[in-house]
Amino acid sequence: MTVGGREFHRIGVELGPRSYDVIVGSGALEQLAELRRLPGSRPGSALLVADRGVPTSHRARAAAVLTGAGLRLHTLSITPSEEHKSLAGAEDILIAMSDHQLERGDLLVALGGGIVGDIAGFAAASYRRGISWVQCPTTLLSMVDASVGGKTGVNLFAGPKRELRKNMIGAFHQPRLVLADLDVLGSLPDRHFRAALSECLKHGLIGAEWGDPDLFGWTQHQGQAIIDRDPAVLAALIARNVALKARIVAADEREEAEQSGRALLNLGHTFAHALESIPGLAPPDSPAPLQHGEAVALGLVAAVGTAAAAGYCPAELAELVRTPLEQFGLPTRISGLPTARALIARMMHDKKVAGGRVRLILPTELGHARIFCDVPSEAIEAGIDAIRAGV
Ligand SMILES: NC(=O)c1ccc[n+]([C@@H]2O[C@H](COP(=O)([O-])OP(=O)(O)OC[C@H]3O[C@@H](n4cnc5c(N)ncnc54)[C@H](O)[C@@H]3O)[C@@H](O)[C@H]2O)c1
Repeated sequence: MTVGGREFHRIGVELGPRSYDVIVGSGALEQLAELRRLPGSRPGSALLVADRGVPTSHRARAAAVLTGAGLRLHTLSITPSEEHKSLAGAEDILIAMSDHQLERGDLLVALGGGIVGDIAGFAAASYRRGISWVQCPTTLLSMVDASVGGKTGVNLFAGPKRELRKNMIGAFHQPRLVLADLDVLGSLPDRHFRAALSECLKHGLIGAEWGDPDLFGWTQHQGQAIIDRDPAVLAALIARNVALKARIVAADEREEAEQSGRALLNLGHTFAHALESIPGLAPPDSPAPLQHGEAVALGLVAAVGTAAAAGYCPAELAELVRTPLEQFGLPTRISGLPTARALIARMMHDKKVAGGRVRLILPTELGHARIFCDVPSEAIEAGIDAIRAGV
């Protein structure tokens, strides 16, 4: 679509009365001006929940567009860390909404990466039993994945050492609009930019099931242009990943399908969430903590290693997955891992555990994956050993 002489990709997330658009392109944030014209929406006030790490210029631009649209604007800055992605972090937002007397018809606008989107969306789902919200993702990972689909939530800190239990508390609460403005990616550090590419490859690994069998190969083929942040290639990358996720979410919004539904998007994530719960883990030459996308890269290698060891997929798939992850500079091995048994014990805290058994999403061939409930523990151990450095 074209607005004001600029070209945008517009992808619809088709969910009946909860349908919404994802707009991708340079200058997309300007469309915050249209918020008061969304059907059934007459917000008077808005709370802009902004990621402290996003440069002031982007935050100021979003604020100026919102006030220009006639909204009474309040702002709150959030520290984007997994520690702060907690009930206490969500409470700060709830208190701000209450202090500013936001009503049910008012609006929350989240401007930031996946962490800010998840906490702010959870606060929007909870405040007065749910108010409308808009996502303005500012990291590549939140553009290609986290901002779409309405999963919101926070981590739980529990156990004797108050260990991190990832995304244990949450709600499904779809945004009214998602604006992915390519201009904000200019300031995103390289490490955070690359971290997103594991989620893109994950989408490629299930692409054949969801109407884009070429996504994995295309992403690999465009590797250098992606790393160079070529604007046209980036826009296509985001639009294609959003379109794939939108199709999956439209088919299985609340992850209820027994097989082949939204759960496939968790490929690699049971391993990744366990890795993220280990304090101090980091790739070589990078400070801790491990970024979510980095943990997903390791999780994908562990998942394909498990599948190969169990005989669920051809052994060659392991190399096929490792190669583009390394090409994107993502970790595929890590030192400092606990024993495989200790990591499996952490995996038991995953939301996917059912009837006391870990349910793993594992690839079966390029483009396809399945849910497995009875994976032999030796195969899981082999998968974990595939990411262990220094052996
Ligand atoms: N809800 C979902 O469906 C879903 C899907 C995938 C991931 N997630 C969640 O998303 C989180 C990870 O999100 P993320 O990878 O975006 O990381 P993040 O939110 O931690 O952001 C990474 C860093 O980039 C900074 N940053 C953000 N935008 C910037 C910009 N434009 N310029 C400069 N710096 C910027 C942030 O301040 C932060 O330091 C995890 O908590 C993960 O669980 C949620």
